[in-house]
Amino acid sequence: MVVLGIDIGGSGMKGALVNSITGEMLTERYRIPTPPSRKPKEMAEVVKKIVEHFDHKGPVGVGFPTIIRHGVCKSVGNLHKKWKNVNVRELFSNTTGLPVTVINDADAAGYATMNYGIGKGKEGLVVMITIGTGLGSGAFYNGELIPNFELGQIPYKKYKKIEDWAAASAKEKEGLSYKQWGKRFNVFLKYVDLLISPDCIILGGGTSKQFDQYKDYITIETPVIPAELRNQAGIVGAAAAALHEAPRD
Ligand code: BGC
Repeated sequence: MVVLGIDIGGSGMKGALVNSITGEMLTERYRIPTPPSRKPKEMAEVVKKIVEHFDHKGPVGVGFPTIIRHGVCKSVGNLHKKWKNVNVRELFSNTTGLPVTVINDADAAGYATMNYGIGKGKEGLVVMITIGTGLGSGAFYNGELIPNFELGQIPYKKYKKIEDWAAASAKEKEGLSYKQWGKRFNVFLKYVDLLISPDCIILGGGTSKQFDQYKDYITIETPVIPAELRNQAGIVGAAAAALHEAPRD
């Protein structure tokens, strides 16, 4: 079944057609920058443009960068506050005229990694951490998703949430070297380890590609591995989860 997977982030909105059975991407990725307002109406228009680009008429699976409960945005993350309590599924479905499912973006990336990537067959508690505008987290116990883990929301020193200090956006904003940022990221990983004792941590998002540049600053005992699906995982996972009844959608 061909599903349009769309991965929505704080800086880019990316789509591709996906074979939702095999997890294979059938087209190139098409990316439009996230509108700077990060407001519902403007972002819904971009979703429509992505659908039109592919001339897609079938189901759409969306990975969205906030807590999503039954299609509704429950906490806005790094988006505009107008998103709070918006039924994202209904909004995108009405704008595109297509059936849409929505899950959290890190849950989607984790879903792809656990079903088609390096996480396949991994037992116990596996956590996917996506490094981007925020720090996303998707948790899986024996392969089953536990939706809406929000490990990036841990308060840290003067920061309301640790992602404001340790996500890729902080590295960029403050012009940090990989060494400086890697040490921060390691502080975050230490909290993750302390709070939930995962068996394995898988890294996704753009920055996972540069793993070699900061892996030496990671000091926790728990294995930390980069996802080989990298940036594609969010798109593939959103599409695949759409068919296999999106958890909590
Ligand atoms: C949000 C998460 C999201 C993460 C990555 C955070 O700000 O709270 O829901 O998964 O950013 O986009």
